[in-house]
Amino acid sequence: MDFCIDLKNIATEELKNVDLDRVNVNCSPPDFEPQRQYYFMAKCRQIVKSERERLGRPLHACNQVFGCQMNARDSEKLAGVLVQAGYQLTDSEEHADFVIYNTCTVRDNANQRVYGRLGYLNSMKKKKPHMKIALCGCMMQEESVIEKLRKSYRFVDLIFDIWRETDRIVEELPVNRKYPYKSGINIMFGCNNFCSYCIVPYVRGRERSREPKEILREIEQLAADGVIEIMLLGQNVNSYGKNLEHPISFAQLLREVEQIDGIRRIRFMTSHPKDLSDELIQVMKESSKICHHLHLPLQSGSDRILQKMNRRYTKEHYLTLVRKIREAIPDIAITTDIIVGFPGETMDDVEETIDVVRKAAYDNAFTFIYSKRTGTPAAAMEDQVPEEIVRPAFDKLLKVVQDTAKERALLLQGKVMEALVEERNEQDASLVTGRLSNNMLVHFPGDASDIGKLMMVSLDECHGFYYTGHAVEQEGPDK
Ligand code: 5AD
Ligand code: SF4
Repeated sequence: MDFCIDLKNIATEELKNVDLDRVNVNCSPPDFEPQRQYYFMAKCRQIVKSERERLGRPLHACNQVFGCQMNARDSEKLAGVLVQAGYQLTDSEEHADFVIYNTCTVRDNANQRVYGRLGYLNSMKKKKPHMKIALCGCMMQEESVIEKLRKSYRFVDLIFDIWRETDRIVEELPVNRKYPYKSGINIMFGCNNFCSYCIVPYVRGRERSREPKEILREIEQLAADGVIEIMLLGQNVNSYGKNLEHPISFAQLLREVEQIDGIRRIRFMTSHPKDLSDELIQVMKESSKICHHLHLPLQSGSDRILQKMNRRYTKEHYLTLVRKIREAIPDIAITTDIIVGFPGETMDDVEETIDVVRKAAYDNAFTFIYSKRTGTPAAAMEDQVPEEIVRPAFDKLLKVVQDTAKERALLLQGKVMEALVEERNEQDASLVTGRLSNNMLVHFPGDASDIGKLMMVSLDECHGFYYTGHAVEQEGPDK
């Protein structure tokens, strides 16, 4: 084999076409990105290859993700790197030579899940000691976690974290997408909002936006690869582009994305109410591709609590925003996140939240019990609410959320809508599952050949959070 390729001389656009088996890894690594990443992939590939030859079988990597859509996207990049490094991917830890967990730490139960899974991995590693275990993601940014792992989870082989205080973004990494027809795209990283309960700004660093041309190029490539639905990802997409050298608004970015041929549906996540502009509402209204779904986290409906949360909007401002959006786009679905049990919260505050749920008429809401995150301002607040007080308030809110969502869902029963078929139904193989523009799911008779197609489906029966129905045409109208 001729190890003649020196990555220092390869242009970034060419990296994806380089035969990594021919890269010279005996020289020093490039000191610039992404060439440096490809160098290490090539190096790892040679090690994996010799292991493969020694064992006479392929090496398997199990790449599991916890947490949000952004983590899911990061894990697709990890999968891309693992494949380049010579691994075959597997969903099962049992068959893996290398296990990597991409962790979440937004609430403590996410951490507990990882510790639980590590216990299981420990017993597995006793049976196959060669298995390597790696951890990455938000949880690994916390010093207390690292200490605990060092002390009590010594069987973990590798922990890697995000560059501290970085303002850099590495473009052009390989990606192994989970779905052929849809994809997430990071448009920004980090968060500058410092909501007082939230650990994200500490673990994900400062807000930084990708250059629009990089985003558009990535989407064009995805479209050429058969992707028809994209989701633009960021902790607060409404402040996208403000800090770029040539500032651009999120609404302007959406206008440009809209022009890309082949993309039929555009989604985005997450919007902060304080930054949602009239321009964005206008673009959504005019667009034929942006899905009629907006995730608009409320967190609380009480002005007093919102202020303590450092959310920088009031109940009235939020409700006015919802009214404006519903007026501009009457069939839009609005979903939200709500926290119950924030320090100092009383039943009166929760009633304010319930009032917003009724008035905003959410199509769905994710309700969370407040989780104390070390290092955040809220963790130091004195009036933490005990679990036995939070629970009944949470249950009361949940009931209203569910009733409201059911009422909303019922409004569409009997309508014909376009659905993107995502997969075979897990319970019933004669059905497929499609996602509507408003993010609701519909199950209807179909087969594997429908996956990835836009189809018109009659929503015959509403079952609260999903529909059952039947296809009425082969494929939805061209947009
Ligand atoms: N406790 C409970 N929920 C939280 N979230 C963020 N931090 C916390 C916390 N400390 C919720 C918010 C956010 C969602 C992703 O997670 O509702 O919108
Ligand atoms: Fe956390 Fe607030 Fe940033 Fe969302 S906007 S990631 S809740 S700090």
